[in-house]
Amino acid sequence: MKKHILIVEDDPIMRLGMSHFLKSEGFVITQSPDGEDAIKKIEKDRYDLIITDLRLPIFDGFEILRKAKALSSYTGVIIITAYAEVRDAVQAIKEGAFDYLAKPFSNEELLIAIDRFFRFQNLQDEVVHLRQTLKEKGGLKDLIGVSPAMMDVFDRITAVSITDVPVLIVGESGTGKELVANAIHAISDRSDKPLVKINCAAIPENLFESELFGHERGAFTGATSFRKGKFEFANGGSIFFDEIADMPFSLQPKLLRVLEDQTITRIGSNSPIKVDVRTIFATCKNLKECVTAGTFREDLFYRINVVPIVIPPLRERKDDIPYFIENFMKHFCERFNKPGLTISELAYDALLSYNYPGNVRELKHAIERAVILCTNSRIELKDLPNEIAAEVSMTPCNRRDITLEESIKCFEKQKIIQALRDSGGRKIEAANKLGISRKVLWKKLKEYNIT
Ligand SMILES: Nc1ncnc2c1ncn2[C@@H]1O[C@H](COP(=O)(O)OP(=O)(O)OP(=O)(O)O)[C@@H](O)[C@H]1O
Ligand SMILES: [Mg+2]
Repeated sequence: MKKHILIVEDDPIMRLGMSHFLKSEGFVITQSPDGEDAIKKIEKDRYDLIITDLRLPIFDGFEILRKAKALSSYTGVIIITAYAEVRDAVQAIKEGAFDYLAKPFSNEELLIAIDRFFRFQNLQDEVVHLRQTLKEKGGLKDLIGVSPAMMDVFDRITAVSITDVPVLIVGESGTGKELVANAIHAISDRSDKPLVKINCAAIPENLFESELFGHERGAFTGATSFRKGKFEFANGGSIFFDEIADMPFSLQPKLLRVLEDQTITRIGSNSPIKVDVRTIFATCKNLKECVTAGTFREDLFYRINVVPIVIPPLRERKDDIPYFIENFMKHFCERFNKPGLTISELAYDALLSYNYPGNVRELKHAIERAVILCTNSRIELKDLPNEIAAEVSMTPCNRRDITLEESIKCFEKQKIIQALRDSGGRKIEAANKLGISRKVLWKKLKEYNIT
């Protein structure tokens, strides 16, 4: 992605000169002649960097700096000052400007300041990665499950986490693949280094290579500054390729090469860099079928399929559901400050019977929603999503919260209604179908209030 720079300078010659030069260096440039116009632009668009003169008509460079910082801490500001204003420049830096340039300055000095800023931005990105990793540490304790299938998954996680072999996590959407990847990293001895994540389905094919391997300044049109790739960010840690089946075919050999010799080369460079990275892959597709279909390379498949971890869909491990319910209830009751919330037996039954095409994620969302919607101290059927609630309304006579007698009556009533419907409302016919006398039917219609 090209970096977008806003240049605010009232002297047209200087403004045009800088714009022209920076455009030729591959930046996207927007120009602004005064403070008012600049602030309008900052409010409207997002810039990577603002280079602004300090003395400007209407609002000065300080106003622009404050506005830019208030809107996004990500945007950098470089101040241009006259020699006499160095004290102001120091003040600007105190208020969050990245750097200042004293007039007159050369194109080269300008470029150095810009480059320094974008390097700093890269470091910031790295910090974000690290912070994310810290948050996700915690490992296995986040993973719930008691079913034999999940016990297997836990065993595998523990076994692979002490090695460096590639791991392939396979499971339907919402089964917890990402959570498993987090756990593997968190309990490995790489856990103090980043776990960098890449969603292979979300990166456009033309940016993929630079995302993974990084690029040098000027490596291609738009490569306005040097950039580290994900493999370098992950150095010493792990890298998680989510939706690996969607990795562009053309890139698959390049990934395979990195897996084989653990070296990467930034685009535009010819010196390979050694990286020490543990790779984890996830997919909800059948990779073997992708190989047959010709969208996934067979050699890469064998390379990453060394230790598969298969997470079965929730409907095939229903023993886990009560534990999920209990944990998610606890979590969301705390989060939404609703202590002591319970679940009605009916709602509980519905949650146990449903077959969850969206797996654990669907169950989790259902409980979150119910905790939010619930207006008294008990979650009722009506607080659940329709498709889950429907599980129970289909079998009301079988409910756990009613007595045997109520259950029998419920069933009797259903049978009578059914017989009446089948015989078009003709009572004699319905009584015959049910094998009871007209008189008994009459009595029951009254008792059950059937009209
Ligand atoms: N075993 C589990 N214990 C606790 N929470 C779980 C478990 N499995 C899944 N979840 C929760 O379900 C949600 C979905 O999990 P996750 O994002 O890991 O699934 P996924 O398999 O990566 O899904 P997708 O294929 O859609 O990306 C998350 O909120 C996660 O916390
Ligand atoms: Mg996922």
